[in-house]
Amino acid sequence: MTSGHGDDQLLNPAPEHIERRPVTTAARLLLGGPVVLVTASYRGQANVMPLAWCAPLSSDPPLVGIAVEQSRHTTEMVSHSEEFALNFPSRQLLHHVQYFGSLTGSDIDKFEATQLETFAPEHVTAPLIEGCVAWVECEVQQVVPVGDHLLFVGLPVAVRVDPLAFDETWSAGEAESRPLHFLGGNRYSALEGVTEARLPAPGEAPERALAEHIEEELELSREAQERREEQLGQLEREVDAGNVIDIARVSLDELPELEEIPRIVVPEREEP
Ligand SMILES: Cc1cc2nc3c(=O)[nH]c(=O)nc-3n(C[C@H](O)[C@H](O)[C@H](O)COP(=O)(O)O)c2cc1C
Repeated sequence: MTSGHGDDQLLNPAPEHIERRPVTTAARLLLGGPVVLVTASYRGQANVMPLAWCAPLSSDPPLVGIAVEQSRHTTEMVSHSEEFALNFPSRQLLHHVQYFGSLTGSDIDKFEATQLETFAPEHVTAPLIEGCVAWVECEVQQVVPVGDHLLFVGLPVAVRVDPLAFDETWSAGEAESRPLHFLGGNRYSALEGVTEARLPAPGEAPERALAEHIEEELELSREAQERREEQLGQLEREVDAGNVIDIARVSLDELPELEEIPRIVVPEREEP
């Protein structure tokens, strides 16, 4: 590890296992947030498209951005209606999401084709989709051309959530109430669970809290490793004895290697 960026500093060479990729990979690396179904309505016609390039942009005022390629039918509809809605699909709409992304609203009425149920928005005209787990209605505040996309900056005017899916954050509870995350191609993922980072107690030095927490994790992974070795030893003994073994009894999940967990050194401090 090096500690500075000056020209006179010698930087380490890149670790051997890493690979170079085309610059277009940057966008894919940034994927992983919840995919949304953008709905819009204009002159009595409604349309829906899946969108992964979506981001919060400001907290005061609360603004969100969607990057829509300029040739999309959605671009035309949102430009004219100056509003849109974000619908957060869950696992049950996985195949709908992919399907909606393979068709354009300029050729087909996607709602009629799928008979997907919708319900009334509160403030905009874009329909909201049932089977989703959260909905954000937006008024367009700004349209910024960015390369071959238009960035529609939206002001949320109504937000609704399914409380089973979202309390103060996504709760990663039941499989059917987790949002879908688009990874690229036809690959999606879902949240596995929620892990809470340890916060320093009042008056506690943050680096001490970090060191202690890492120690706790090391201890846990040591215990898991010992349990696994014990199970494997037992298996070996049964195999040696010629017994039939039930592989399903043993979890062979990868465990973190102990040395993969970084340790930190806590400088001695005088107590306040
Ligand atoms: C999961 C997924 C995510 C997508 N994300 C985007 C995106 O962020 N921006 C975009 O312009 N197109 C995106 N697309 C492509 C559009 O959804 C697709 O071109 C769609 O057919 C456009 O529909 P429309 O012409 O009716 O607006 C995505 C497609 C899929 C399947």
